[in-house]
Amino acid sequence: MGMIEMLRKVPLFAELDELELASIAALSSSIDIPKKSIVVQESDPGDSMYVILDGEVKVSTYSVDGREVVLALLGKGSFFGEMSLLDEQPRSANVTTMQDSKFANIRRRDLVQLLMDQPVISLKLLTEIAVRLRKTSRVLERISSMDVPHRLYAYLVDHCVRFSQPNQDGRYNTVLPTHQLLADQLSTSRETISRTISQLKKDGVLVQCEGRGKMLVDVEQLEDMLDNC
Ligand code: CMP
Repeated sequence: MGMIEMLRKVPLFAELDELELASIAALSSSIDIPKKSIVVQESDPGDSMYVILDGEVKVSTYSVDGREVVLALLGKGSFFGEMSLLDEQPRSANVTTMQDSKFANIRRRDLVQLLMDQPVISLKLLTEIAVRLRKTSRVLERISSMDVPHRLYAYLVDHCVRFSQPNQDGRYNTVLPTHQLLADQLSTSRETISRTISQLKKDGVLVQCEGRGKMLVDVEQLEDMLDNC
């Protein structure tokens, strides 16, 4: 698939016509990066943004005690690296590939021109930054006010509603991240996540399905457990 076809599938550029997509394609360089590689390193200077054409990345930082804190998982069609590009400060986090990935890389000078020419792209970029800020604030609030099991219940509800559809019986078929990735997002240990998930399975809230991480989730029951916390 050519660059224009791949860019057409990116929500940020959805409103653009052929000619506009072609001009972005001409400004972008395509980069293939294998799984588990660092694409962006925290504290490095950065003057370009990445659009994920294929694959998935983890945005993370390290706490003072050396624990990895996962701020977000971003997939195909999403973007990262816009923060340093906009505020001209060093990179705010590490971005690592979770799968073999393909990116379109756009330099500051070209993107700034594009944002000025296409206010609709600026608006979408701002909207996505607002969505991420809300999500980060919500996680921070949960970490400071909830115990680990309730953080996990809230995460599972968000995850199911965002990434899957309910079955006829109201339960959601979803694929969960690994226990370590869940722990790194919820500021806890993998053992605590494994224990909580085992308990949820015993209670029938989670049912393990065939395939790695595949689960049937009773979101309604999780919501009740959250209401009663
Ligand atoms: P930048 O600071 O240039 O490099 C790291 C990138 O990680 C950053 O731009 C954002 O694209 C992304 N990022 C940083 N913090 C968060 C967050 N809290 N949620 C989602 N993405 C983030």
